[in-house]
Amino acid sequence: MTRSFGDYQNEIYGDGLRGVVPTLPMTFAGLESKAQAALSPSLWSYVAGGAGDEYTQRANVSAFEQWGLIPRMMVGAARRDLSVDLFGMTLASPLFMVPVGVIGLCSQDAHGDLATARAAARTGVPMVASTLTVDPMEAVAKELGDTPGFFQLYTPTDRDLAESLVHRAEAAGFKGIVVTLDTWVTGWRPRDLSTSNFPQLRGHCLANYTSDPVFRARLERSPEEDMGAAVAHLMGIYGNPLTWDDLPWLRSLTDLPLILKGICHPDDVRRAKDGGVNGIYCSNHGGRQANGGLAALDALPEVVDAADGLPVLFDSGVRTGADIVKALALGATAVGVGRPYAYGLAAGGTDGIVHVLRALLAEADLIMAVDGYPTLADLTREALRRRP
Ligand code: FNR
Repeated sequence: MTRSFGDYQNEIYGDGLRGVVPTLPMTFAGLESKAQAALSPSLWSYVAGGAGDEYTQRANVSAFEQWGLIPRMMVGAARRDLSVDLFGMTLASPLFMVPVGVIGLCSQDAHGDLATARAAARTGVPMVASTLTVDPMEAVAKELGDTPGFFQLYTPTDRDLAESLVHRAEAAGFKGIVVTLDTWVTGWRPRDLSTSNFPQLRGHCLANYTSDPVFRARLERSPEEDMGAAVAHLMGIYGNPLTWDDLPWLRSLTDLPLILKGICHPDDVRRAKDGGVNGIYCSNHGGRQANGGLAALDALPEVVDAADGLPVLFDSGVRTGADIVKALALGATAVGVGRPYAYGLAAGGTDGIVHVLRALLAEADLIMAVDGYPTLADLTREALRRRP
């Protein structure tokens, strides 16, 4: 019998017959409290918090509740196919793990980037590795097994350094470059401001810089000798307020698929498309960067229309399998989760992430079964209605 993602529930019920009950939470709320207990208060605030009074962050989540899936009967959706073609690869599902800069710190051994890559290897769910990691990208890539990984670039003003990071990502075997556009400056984050805590300023998660030959050549003393000077140098070059005039340069850096992250306006989609990108990544950074915006989900349909066939990756506010199905029905090609897998890691290491990903996929798969949408092609906007 072909296995489906939904079979995870049979495993869990089967274990129950032997008296074994899950040690990891089955709901996002349960995961949240377990992660909070596992992380230091400052790291918890950094991961869970967002910009301003977190209105946009909450809207990202509640936007999904504005939509309802319409069940269709007598479809016989006994077998579901969640596979998706993306940048010439066939993936078993449209789910991916978004870049999370401090994921390295979220595991007990403080090597969370490696733990995430191992979860990707075990599940086939791709990882987008951040520029900000505890372990250098080459070490992360080694743990991915056969699962594709993508490298997310925070573009520094030092163009040679940007180029070096991209070329290292190519050499390490990453399958695409995701350039994040909305974080050249940090948004106003009251939770972190209240504790004066910004991990990178304390020298955390900078391995990709400190291991980089171009970065090191800029320093008078090595980061091992003088981390303070390395951080000071980085802060001077960290964020590049890119313009569309920089896109030809970005495009020239690599033949790998180039994806722009943080796009929510259809005109920006069209400009990106004209500039030769391979994918659009619709996201508002999980509400961490600019408060007062619409939910990312509300921007998705227009972004998809403007993309006109170009793949659209989506994140921000996805918490359940139902959310994944709704984002797909609104036209996303692939759907990313951030906090859910970060909390899974905090709660249970690599096993915790694997559990979160399997649970999300099982729920999505079973909704497609019950509601009669056996393939992703069946999930169109027709499957959804706005709540009255
Ligand atoms: C992020 N995000 C992020 N994005 C990025 O492009 N590079 C990065 O290094 C980070 N770092 C980061 C740290 C933390 C703690 C969080 C929570 C998020 C944003 C991330 O990729 C994604 O856009 C959001 O997390 C998606 O929202 P949800 O799923 O967390 O609601």
